[in-house]
Amino acid sequence: MAISFSYSPAWLLLSLILLAFASMAPQVESRAFFVFGDSLVDNGNNNYLITSARADSPPYGIDYPTHRPTGRFSNGLNIPDIISEQMGTEPTMAYLNPMLKGEKLLVGANFASAGVGILNDTGIQFLNIIRIGKQIEYFQQYQTRVTGLIGAEQTQALVNQALVLITLGGNDFVNNYYLVPFSARSRQFSLPDYVQYLISEYRKVLRKLYDLGTRKVLVTGTGPMGCVPAELAQRSRAGECAVDLMRAASLFNPQLTEMLSSLNSELGADVFVAANTFAMHMDFISDPQAYGFITSKIACCGQGPYNGIGLCTPLSNLCPNRDVYAFWDPFHPSERANRIIVQQILTGDNKYMNPMNLSSIMAMDSRT
Ligand SMILES: *[C@@H]1O[C@H](CO)[C@@H](O)[C@H](O)[C@H]1NC(C)=O
Ligand SMILES: *[C@@H]1O[C@H](CO)[C@@H](O)[C@H](O)[C@H]1NC(C)=O
Repeated sequence: MAISFSYSPAWLLLSLILLAFASMAPQVESRAFFVFGDSLVDNGNNNYLITSARADSPPYGIDYPTHRPTGRFSNGLNIPDIISEQMGTEPTMAYLNPMLKGEKLLVGANFASAGVGILNDTGIQFLNIIRIGKQIEYFQQYQTRVTGLIGAEQTQALVNQALVLITLGGNDFVNNYYLVPFSARSRQFSLPDYVQYLISEYRKVLRKLYDLGTRKVLVTGTGPMGCVPAELAQRSRAGECAVDLMRAASLFNPQLTEMLSSLNSELGADVFVAANTFAMHMDFISDPQAYGFITSKIACCGQGPYNGIGLCTPLSNLCPNRDVYAFWDPFHPSERANRIIVQQILTGDNKYMNPMNLSSIMAMDSRT
């Protein structure tokens, strides 16, 4: 279809209408979005670092609008991208991307870095990654930069009204406690004590985000870590979910929800919202066919049993239709699985979202 930009009366009228709407728009046009955490939500920060935790070569990004790798650990969009899409905003850019400057900063920023956890010693094998303390430092630096752009008061308002997503915890098990047999942390702590330690450290991280002005923070739990293709390949006998990692998730997630609600009562407001990503994943893992997947055990991209060994690289097996696989690579969901997860974040009842879902957050704020 050819689009002609001649000054036909209809085109002129349309331009006038658009112009009228544009001049009515408020100064900060839409809700900003900030993202913290690990590879499930990294939009490409690790591309700028010397690290082995990266997704910047094909076939990553094969279904992304550009069909190129971006650093996202997905065949296409990831969870923050789909949340932005649902809010009607542009996707958040990686904070280390030099193109993120000027007015683009008002959209928000993504500080996440693949490989990180709650603890500083998680992911050390990936060398140079942005640990959560540093992600928060960058967020402070971001606020200084935005203050230079729109002033302190408006920056404060932007941060107060923003949506925040933080995804941490999985790597503290997979890439720390259970990384090798007799890991340092597993010799130091029993699993229940380790979980308690993680929760107490996580609480400090979240409190810091509050102190920096965030007021609407979605916090995801860990998925069913024992059911990902990588763990099926390494730890399971007959394709059942690996027991030790499932036990870890079943200890961590309920305590996380409890910690968030205790923080909320301390703050006197529902700042932190728990997203039960464990239950969201379990739906399509226990009945993949009901969700249009042919399998939830075999990764689309990988090699070895369940395509679960090693990394997804240009030499890996690659499925022709990514939409029928729940897992894109040995650890990360496909775009279609991410869409199912975001749908529950938006509209799920309190089995999935506690104390409220994202559509209630958005409805509540548009009334005030
Ligand atoms: C992690 O490292 C940062 C920066 O060095 C430090 O401030 C923080 O206390 C450390 N966290 C833990 C749990 O040791
Ligand atoms: C989202 O949460 C609101 C408030 O708890 C609830 O009324 C609504 O039913 C939820 N959405 C869905 C689709 O369940």
